[in-house]
Amino acid sequence: MTAADPLLAFRDRFPITARTNYLINNSLGAMPAAARARVAEFLDAWDTRGVRAWGDGWWTLQERVADRIATVLGAPAGSVSMHQNVAVALEMILSCFSFDGARNRIVYADRNFPSDQYIYEARARHGAKLVRVPAASDGISTDVQQIVDAIDDRTLLVAIDHVMFRSSAIVDPVPIVQKARAVGAFVILDTFHSVGTVPLKLREWGVHAAVGGALKWLCGGPGNCFLYVDPDLVTSLQPTFTGWAAHKQPFLFSPAGQDYRDDGGRFATGTPNVPALHSGMAGIEIVVEAGMPAIRARSQRLTQLLVEEAQRAGLGLKSPLQAERRGGHVALDVPDGYAVCQALAAREIVVDFRPDAGLRVAPHFYNTEAEVRAAVRAVREILDSGEHRRFLQAERKPG
Ligand SMILES: Cc1ncc(COP(=O)(O)O)c(C=O)c1O
Repeated sequence: MTAADPLLAFRDRFPITARTNYLINNSLGAMPAAARARVAEFLDAWDTRGVRAWGDGWWTLQERVADRIATVLGAPAGSVSMHQNVAVALEMILSCFSFDGARNRIVYADRNFPSDQYIYEARARHGAKLVRVPAASDGISTDVQQIVDAIDDRTLLVAIDHVMFRSSAIVDPVPIVQKARAVGAFVILDTFHSVGTVPLKLREWGVHAAVGGALKWLCGGPGNCFLYVDPDLVTSLQPTFTGWAAHKQPFLFSPAGQDYRDDGGRFATGTPNVPALHSGMAGIEIVVEAGMPAIRARSQRLTQLLVEEAQRAGLGLKSPLQAERRGGHVALDVPDGYAVCQALAAREIVVDFRPDAGLRVAPHFYNTEAEVRAAVRAVREILDSGEHRRFLQAERKPG
């Protein structure tokens, strides 16, 4: 028995774990059984209360979900707004800046999630000068010092992923924020791969803004992404991407123009995604109940076991070997990765494959040591037997 075993008491709350070796929690966290009841509540309210459901609680649900997420971010209540996806959340914060002045540089890392890079790069059309920092010499992480050195008084924005989506390497945001604050630049941290598995202290770190979502480690399903903005900066920002939900009194439907809210709700747009918010709350609450320090400790134990088992099995690794430098997943560098991933799925072992990363294996607090061992053993068996060959021509599907 290990000290973290009490977390396995949560396992029964995630039904898929009874059927499947579910090790892809950095992509889509397992559905908590309680989410079904929450979505049923939404349907019941729509069915029985109709439009009155807005006043019964639908309208303010986005704030309740946002405040619950804030506790996991190490951020105060009222500092977070909810969005359909990270792309929208990034567009929202970017809409607060113009790039036609002398300070117009965006410093970002080429190991960041590509979608974020597309969004920053599109700003070049509005005058932004792009400073793309290459990967560290190990090829799998971002060199913090290189980012720090790239920031100067021409830098408007600094965009970093907290945990690299391919390798799981952690980027320490603190020195980056310190340099950015010293020269007057604004840091946007993408926490998608850390929130819910690596403890976050956004307020303490001094990060200006952060994005992320609940569908991975927070087990909240799609449609529950968020934007955090430092409460000290909120009223100095005027998003051009806006809507009536960002108005102080939306139900006045005032023709007198936008009157932005003074809290995180300033970064809302229009009608909230009510079904998604219903499905999202259950997982976030369970993560809060389990507690981030315990989740991180268990994650480090499981990923360390994964690394050791993979090394014993002679499999390549594309993740940092030290647990404290790693987020919640481990990338296994194996030949024919996509086909191996399909062969694992045929054995009801679910991981994913990403080009230039390999197989991403991502145990959460409800996974067992036995599942981690079984997955590594299966990869070895598949490669040795050639079981994956029938998937070599398989069409790439989303996921
Ligand atoms: C680090 C990171 N940022 C951004 C995204 C894209 O998010 P979205 O699809 O919500 O725009 C992802 C998707 O997995 C991601 O891993």
